[in-house]
Amino acid sequence: MLNIKFFILPVLTFSLYFLNFGSCYALFEENDFQKKIHKILADHGLSEDDDVLPIEPEQSILPLAGQNAEPALKPKEVTNWPQNKLPHLGEVSGVSVNRVGQPVIFHRGPRTYNDWSFNETNDFRFINEGPIDIDTVLTLDPKTGNVLSSWGRGFFYLPHGITIDHEGNTWLTDIAMHQVFKFSPGASRPSMTFGQKFQHGSGARKLCMPTSVAVSTNGYIFIADGYCNSRILKFDYGGELIRIYPQSWEFLSLQIPHSLALMEQYDLLCIADRENMRVTCVKAELNGYNAGVQPTSLNIQQPDLGRVFAIAAYGDYIYAINGPTSQMIPIQGFTLNPLTESIVDHWDTFAQKMWMPHDIAITPDGREMYIVSVIPSRILKFTMETPARKTTN
Ligand SMILES: *[C@@H]1O[C@H](CO)[C@@H](O)[C@H](O)[C@H]1NC(C)=O
Repeated sequence: MLNIKFFILPVLTFSLYFLNFGSCYALFEENDFQKKIHKILADHGLSEDDDVLPIEPEQSILPLAGQNAEPALKPKEVTNWPQNKLPHLGEVSGVSVNRVGQPVIFHRGPRTYNDWSFNETNDFRFINEGPIDIDTVLTLDPKTGNVLSSWGRGFFYLPHGITIDHEGNTWLTDIAMHQVFKFSPGASRPSMTFGQKFQHGSGARKLCMPTSVAVSTNGYIFIADGYCNSRILKFDYGGELIRIYPQSWEFLSLQIPHSLALMEQYDLLCIADRENMRVTCVKAELNGYNAGVQPTSLNIQQPDLGRVFAIAAYGDYIYAINGPTSQMIPIQGFTLNPLTESIVDHWDTFAQKMWMPHDIAITPDGREMYIVSVIPSRILKFTMETPARKTTN
């Protein structure tokens, strides 16, 4: 009881302050004092308009016990892979890994994504050119890089993201169609479709240039939507919308969520928040909606991170790649520890090989990693090396 009393008193004081003076606020830019008050209210999960009610104590998003259990793996490029040039390879926008550890890529064939692809209202200009008429989804041999199988012709207009989930379903996003599709293994038609073809919107039934999908092992579907709406939609297994990030009361502003990664052991959904030049992780709420508890977010934002194009999770770490940002910020790979909100390693610069790396994927066993780029059309393979342990004599 004592705790609650001490908690309510300062909040009440601030609220009275707002009651008296709130009406004047609109006239002025927010000054430092007001910012401080807003921060305190926000830290307690209150808006200016909230009634003063006891709320649950602030919960830390951090399961502290899990910090730094194992050192991060070190990616090392496999040279001369793929061994042969891939035929008709276009801009490679997405990569995922299937359940048997084979890389699967999503590419644009002869089509390109550039400043002219969409008009000012986010409508695709080249609908009348029809869908891409070559296979856009290629499964590659991890040893040689040769194409093992392919599909996805005559359907997609402008491929973006690919995710293969734990059941082997393939989730594909098409930014021109403003849609996301779920393909069951071996299926030629989608078993689920999100959004309406060539119709963008910001409500519950339409998307706008969706970028990426993540699926939890208990079936929640997260869609990063995307270039125009900058929000994340969470659906249940049956496709029922259950959550939008951010909610209006959440202290979370996304600028082109471009890639998603789940860290289920920490109940975290991590987002490559590209134009904010950061990775932010929010509560995935995989055990259901956590009413009343304010989620806080973890943020990794460092000067050299630049525009983060893609992320993949393995173990306690997020592996990230940035893309063109400025002359001062090299294009490279990063290992991030979301729990400590820090960069723990830089592991490669792609300057000579990739001008615009676009996606990253790690095999389920954590031994291999793939990175694809749209310019030039390319895929690189890495092995994940265990760092030498320090030994004591
Ligand atoms: C963009 O294209 C759509 C579809 O053709 C059209 O309805 C819309 O008016 C266009 N917007 C602009 C600003 O030209």
